[in-house]
Amino acid sequence: MNAPVELAGIELTDPDLTARLSAGLLRVEALLESEVVSEFGFVTEAASHLMHAGGKRFRPLFTLVAAGIGPKPDADGVVTAAAVVELIHLATLYHDDVMDEADIRRGAKSANARWDNSIAILTGDFLFAHASRLVAGLGPDAVSIIAETFAELVTGQTRETVGPRPDDDPIEHHLRVLNEKTAALLDTCGRYAGMFSGASEPEIAALRRYGRAIGMAFQISDDIIDLTSTDSGKTPGTDLRAGVPTLPVLYTLADRSSDARLVELVAGPISSDQEVAEAVSLLRDSPGMTRAQQTLADHADSASAALAELPASPAVEALGSLVPFVVARTR
Ligand code: IPE
Ligand code: IPE
Ligand code: MG
Ligand code: MG
Repeated sequence: MNAPVELAGIELTDPDLTARLSAGLLRVEALLESEVVSEFGFVTEAASHLMHAGGKRFRPLFTLVAAGIGPKPDADGVVTAAAVVELIHLATLYHDDVMDEADIRRGAKSANARWDNSIAILTGDFLFAHASRLVAGLGPDAVSIIAETFAELVTGQTRETVGPRPDDDPIEHHLRVLNEKTAALLDTCGRYAGMFSGASEPEIAALRRYGRAIGMAFQISDDIIDLTSTDSGKTPGTDLRAGVPTLPVLYTLADRSSDARLVELVAGPISSDQEVAEAVSLLRDSPGMTRAQQTLADHADSASAALAELPASPAVEALGSLVPFVVARTR
């Protein structure tokens, strides 16, 4: 038997599934490659930049694996849909890095840092346009689904920018942003996978629920990793230093019995390295962290529950392997 292969946290033990995915990913890459070409050399260069910088290709991968639920996992529509979701994701990264004034993306210089904001915005728009053109070939249902997804994503980025209103619960606000800006697209990955592979309506519904839940779990684990990471390639406390709200901090601020020194620190602004280190160390063992871990576990359980509605298969098993992976990467 072949050694298991792991791609973006999805463990592949079934040789047929692994072979199908390798072939599918090659087709997706070829399509992506052809979609980043513009008549303007600088747009081609800027659009290829992040595409070639790496990235986990998690959304196309999820789409291809989930297509194993239906009778036609290799359908052309599955591959096109997998490319569409990555193009949409990539486009949002160009725009997000402008909004967040980020310097680094996928281990490379972000487009705004390497060129400028105008080029990053144009490139994001170019990728959105190409994703729209591709999705048009998938029919009116696919178009209306991506339109809704896109609207939800933009709403999430807007809600995050606006911040909680005075009568909003900051934790609900935060979770809603994560749901809109990230989980919505993963819902659509599962939905497209089911639709284009010929899965039944209940199967499509289960894949959508799985996508939502794993999307939430991913984002929450990102919040936690900011505090727990020792070897993730990121500096612990980056969000904290930048004043970016994360779930452990929001839970700490919402709890009247939280450690007074910790509240003082996370209420910010934090400036010195010493204060960041102190806050990170207090947060790691705080009740706020325990609650964030619990919220993560709840979404992980929802993801597993959605999968339990599907008949056992190598594809379901592969999707199942992602659940403990997402939880474990926070430890
Ligand atoms: C990053 O997504 C943006 C978020 C939604 C947090 P990924 O972690 O999937 O990024 P890439 O595609 O691997 O670069
Ligand atoms: C990523 O959001 C962008 C979208 C999901 C649209 P964040 O700003 O939270 O993620 P990173 O840290 O830049 O990847
Ligand atoms: Mg960002
Ligand atoms: Mg952002």
